Amino acid sequence: MRLYTPHLMEVIETRQETPDVRTLKLRFVDPAQRESFTFLAGQFGLYSAFGEGESTFCIASPPTWRDHIECTFRAVGKVTESLRHKEAGDVIGFRGPYGNHFPLDEYRGKDLLFVVGGIALPPLRCLIWNVLDRRDEFGAVRIVYGARSVADLVYKDELAAWEARSDVELVTTVDPGGETPDWKGKIGFVPTALAEYAPPSTNGLAFVCGPPVMIKFSMPVLEKLGFTPGQIYTTLENRMKCGVGKCGRCNIGGTYVCKEGPVFTARELEALPMGSDY
Ligand code: FES
Repeated sequence: MRLYTPHLMEVIETRQETPDVRTLKLRFVDPAQRESFTFLAGQFGLYSAFGEGESTFCIASPPTWRDHIECTFRAVGKVTESLRHKEAGDVIGFRGPYGNHFPLDEYRGKDLLFVVGGIALPPLRCLIWNVLDRRDEFGAVRIVYGARSVADLVYKDELAAWEARSDVELVTTVDPGGETPDWKGKIGFVPTALAEYAPPSTNGLAFVCGPPVMIKFSMPVLEKLGFTPGQIYTTLENRMKCGVGKCGRCNIGGTYVCKEGPVFTARELEALPMGSDY
């Protein structure tokens, strides 16, 4: 069926982010598709290893990088296990872009605060680079990023590049015991780093993505800083199969995450049957 037919993409580069997290840089095999493909920050795709099946990940690169897309994933099953062994020159399948997106134009003039844990950086990395590629349109850009250990931090080169910029404020932290002798960032959990570092919000939006426990303890901090549920965004990535509202695998009550999400505000999530427990 055409709807489920993947487009061919060539792996043009790979990067091992952590011992079990890998990034693939991908380019459409068909030059016409390469030219015409567009998407918006926050959208996702289904990536296939032929003979193994499909797996859902966000598009981790911003739409402003026109010549390729990137995906970053942890090997957790047979598809991702197969994808992680792909090397430059190999061909995989891709369907997408699917889902809604971060309404970036509505963020103009606002201060943006990113609160991120571990492997949840890829979907927000797409948005962060999209913002940085249009930097003049936004206020302060602040990023609090943490992981269990230094080895678990993804995009280390980009973290260094963000740190070096005068128009980005970056705080990196690792859980106690996860530091190395030469670690120069903070030691502690993300919500603690957030409380210590982030200024009260007068004109801000927050983007929160990470393990449930990180989100749970970051929400009251954000509330204290003045963010209302309508000013806090997150993105859900799990539970997808078809990606196009057909299979009924992704729904929360009557809401299809693949169509109405994956990007939601905390206020929208509070209205879903799972409540604010995302
Ligand atoms: S993934 Fe199939 S309906 Fe959403």
